[in-house]
Amino acid sequence: MIAFEDANGMIQNYLTNTLIAQEKQMDKGYKLPLSDALFCARDNVRNKMFFKSICTAVETLKKKQDKVMVVDAGSGVGILGVYALLAGAEKCFFLENNPHSLEYSRGLIGKLGYKDKAHFIQCDATTVELPTPYDLLISETLTSGFVDEDFVEIVNHLRQFGKTDSIIIPEGFEMTVTEKDKSGAELGASTVKIDSYSPITRPAKTIKNPQAKTLTYHTKATLFDDITLESGECISFLNERTVQTAT
Ligand SMILES: C[S@@+](CC[C@H](N)C(=O)[O-])C[C@H]1O[C@@H](n2cnc3c(N)ncnc32)[C@H](O)[C@@H]1O
Repeated sequence: MIAFEDANGMIQNYLTNTLIAQEKQMDKGYKLPLSDALFCARDNVRNKMFFKSICTAVETLKKKQDKVMVVDAGSGVGILGVYALLAGAEKCFFLENNPHSLEYSRGLIGKLGYKDKAHFIQCDATTVELPTPYDLLISETLTSGFVDEDFVEIVNHLRQFGKTDSIIIPEGFEMTVTEKDKSGAELGASTVKIDSYSPITRPAKTIKNPQAKTLTYHTKATLFDDITLESGECISFLNERTVQTAT
């Protein structure tokens, strides 16, 4: 198995040497601009935990079967699907709404020699029909509290295309919601658990304390098995988010 430092070194090399003008990275009209996908791909703390979880998941699946089919939904520059291919997956479908990010990922994957194992689909991953059932679904389309981005809708939609015993990364979440009054003082907190293998609902913005004006979400994701990553541990993933209450 390739070490994280080697895999990451090759990818970061590509990112450094394949420069795109800043204004072109800021493309508008899609779910996220290429610049956001590049920012995530440079977050090495996040990358290391995803690498560990994806390699462990592929190894686990390969104990039961020869070929592991992967879907990377909201693939950005393709880094997470690449990890699955480096770990020995047979094929990966890269689903991405932004054609510029998808094109960039095509370049990266070609450079690494995985062109024949990759399928690129420009789509909305909340509605796309997949041609083949998958063994592993990866989706890093996340914000803390599911405040923005489409993780909930993507995973709720794509779950139907998974084989029996397929794996979803992240597997689940523990979300702590802290209610604060208008001065920012804490009024109370509650924690909910969310399981990616069952239908997910976005947490409601309703509150227990009538004086609460804001809700702050702190989220811990279980990527796979006992591999976790939570708000505050890295720069691009699940940073704490504060929203106004619905009242
Ligand atoms: C936060 S970035 C992360 C990219 C990549 N998964 C990674 O971890 O490096 C999320 C990506 O998902 C894409 N995306 C968000 N919602 C999507 C949707 N409904 N369908 C397809 N792509 C989507 C965005 O365009 C963006 O490139």
